[in-house]
Amino acid sequence: MTTAEAHNDTATSPTAVGSGTAATDKFKNERVSADTPPERVAAIAKDALAALNQVVLDHKVTYPEYRVLKQWLIDLGEGGEWPLFLDVFLEHSVEEVLAQSRQGTKGSIEGPYYIANAPALPSVATLPMRDEDRKITPLIFSGQVKDLEGNGIAGAHVEIWHADDDGYYSQFAPHLPEWNLRGDITVDDDGRYEITTIQPAPYQIPTDGPTGAFVAAQGAHPWRPAHLHLIVSAPGKASVTTQLYFRGGDYVDDDVAMATKPELILDPIPGDDGKNHVSYDFVLDPA
Ligand SMILES: [Fe+2]
Repeated sequence: MTTAEAHNDTATSPTAVGSGTAATDKFKNERVSADTPPERVAAIAKDALAALNQVVLDHKVTYPEYRVLKQWLIDLGEGGEWPLFLDVFLEHSVEEVLAQSRQGTKGSIEGPYYIANAPALPSVATLPMRDEDRKITPLIFSGQVKDLEGNGIAGAHVEIWHADDDGYYSQFAPHLPEWNLRGDITVDDDGRYEITTIQPAPYQIPTDGPTGAFVAAQGAHPWRPAHLHLIVSAPGKASVTTQLYFRGGDYVDDDVAMATKPELILDPIPGDDGKNHVSYDFVLDPA
């Protein structure tokens, strides 16, 4: 099966190749740059290669193992899984560097499935969802966006995206509507919001591609705990990219992406209305 055929096949059964290709295509279209001076590039490259070479020496890596590594790296690229692999296994350290300069809400990794320009929604809103999604326990997620002094911030945005009950993200699984379970909420004049969505489920990172093979070869598991993805922003403030998890949920203490933090655990309360209710306030640092 070619990559294109595998991508098309996701219409009925999403695959790692399908979502990996979609993540790579999205990233390639963004064309990023970082203005890193040559001296810093040299220092980082030197240390990165030194660390890798030391691993080879420490573990006495053999030629057959080295060749398997080369083949696996080729597979990773051809499968379009570089964004997936890096976001799962490396991004949490980059985020940790950023977090060292922040006092407000703790951040977490963005992951490969963010899409900009989600539908604009008012401060009290329901995310776009399918009839199938409406059968899942609703989650009423409310709170306030505040500055470091505790003042609500009018005009702040809460961008939210998360997987459905099968673990798939819209635009990375073609059987889903384009903006399913995605939205860009503008808070009210006090910085408050109330979002109706569904209780997400834990999901596996794709297991049928080279990232899945990497996990399986170690005898490890590929699961992420249930989570909401968020980017909270406001004029004059530093935006925060984060995730929120659910207390007591599977894999909260054993996330394959190592992206959970104690400050990011929600405690939803089942209401008499058959819905889960939870509140979380976001605090933004100055820009
Ligand atoms: Fe996710």
